[in-house]
Amino acid sequence: MFDFNFDWRPDMETKIEVLDQQHQQLFRIGRDIEQLLRIKCIGVTEIQLLKIVCELRDYAAYHSYQEEKLMKETGYSGYEQHKKMHESFSTEIESINMPKLKSDPEGQLGLIRDHIQVWVFEHMLIEDMKMADEIRAKIKK
Ligand SMILES: [Fe+2]
Repeated sequence: MFDFNFDWRPDMETKIEVLDQQHQQLFRIGRDIEQLLRIKCIGVTEIQLLKIVCELRDYAAYHSYQEEKLMKETGYSGYEQHKKMHESFSTEIESINMPKLKSDPEGQLGLIRDHIQVWVFEHMLIEDMKMADEIRAKIKK
């Protein structure tokens, strides 16, 4: 994939503060992964890998919960479909295998990074934006 590096840009904001904070948190995790990949994971410890996996799991669970709560409260029209996407992302994150990651950190982290990038471009910047636009319009009324 092209050089993305998880650099945050203002045009990525949904303008819903709580969501933007969490999206930026995902970018921070992405940058941590990029840094390890840049040094080819040389000297990476099990604790560092575990921290990344835990942060991703926390993110997937908490952020999905937060967005789903907001969608429900505001009666977002695409709720069910959006929730399904969160579920498939969470399943992917839950399926990260620690022993596998430990034995091949560079290969496995590369796959995780690619997966997060796809999530950013296909979900966050499209589906979350669509959701936020509708929700902001509803709140304004
Ligand atoms: Fe979402």
